[in-house]
Amino acid sequence: MAGLTLRDLADIGDRLARWQSLAYHSDGRTSQTISCRLCTSRRSIGTETMGPDTTRRYYEGSSDAYFLQTCERDLSSYWAMFEAHLKPGSAIIDLGCGSGRDLKRFAKGGHRPVGIDYSLPLLGLAARFSGQATVLGNIRLVPFRAEAFDAAWAMASLLHLPRSAIGRALRQIAACLKPGAPLFAGLKLGIGEETDSLGRFTTFYAADEWSDILAESNFSVYDLQIDIERRRLADGGFQEIPWIASLAIVRSGSMRRSHLPA
Ligand SMILES: C[S@@+](CC[C@H](N)C(=O)[O-])C[C@H]1O[C@@H](n2cnc3c(N)ncnc32)[C@H](O)[C@@H]1O
Repeated sequence: MAGLTLRDLADIGDRLARWQSLAYHSDGRTSQTISCRLCTSRRSIGTETMGPDTTRRYYEGSSDAYFLQTCERDLSSYWAMFEAHLKPGSAIIDLGCGSGRDLKRFAKGGHRPVGIDYSLPLLGLAARFSGQATVLGNIRLVPFRAEAFDAAWAMASLLHLPRSAIGRALRQIAACLKPGAPLFAGLKLGIGEETDSLGRFTTFYAADEWSDILAESNFSVYDLQIDIERRRLADGGFQEIPWIASLAIVRSGSMRRSHLPA
């Protein structure tokens, strides 16, 4: 298997509850259970956070179409922003890995990416497309041990969390990163929260607001850009979507798991 081994995943996944433990391997094997040393003594991710929601249902039900729409998207400028901060052979967590496009990119660059996503069908596609390890889990409550990763990538995934959950999720992400590790996040610029006609829930952020949230969650903002994506519509027209792209660094003395609220 390319990337991390199952043993590495077991080591990383100290909070992975058994019922949701799952890893896809590039040779087609699927492991249903990762034996984790600490998961029995910790609170598992329960039905509240893994339960049905319309966003998840969309990514499960439309996985093939979503994969085809996004697996070849060129994110060169965002990859460059992130990769400038990576050490050779970095262990990278791709939060909401979708098609596996970015797992493939980072592995090609000599890194060791692991994808986490709550859509089981997309995880399978991502594992096959990238040849990298993927883990079923919820980015609201990342199931990894403290300082497991050298870097985190979250393109268009944290935007699906409600505003009320983002601070806690970011503090958990900070805790599973080494001090000084970079986090790239791509979010939609705007105001409020909405559920679109496909059932996808999105939270929009103002640039200052997003900077403040990162700073309150133990990250130092290194770079923040606003970009306009021109997305082609079925009728031949275009939709303009403003994005925030941020690169933030975990501050040293990051709150460890033991300091996080249960
Ligand atoms: C807009 S897609 C982006 C996918 C990929 N990062 C990309 O840039 O193409 C959002 C992804 O995040 C996943 N996702 C959304 N909310 C999640 C959650 N709470 N836990 C785990 N995955 C989540 C979805 O299943 C989907 O794959």
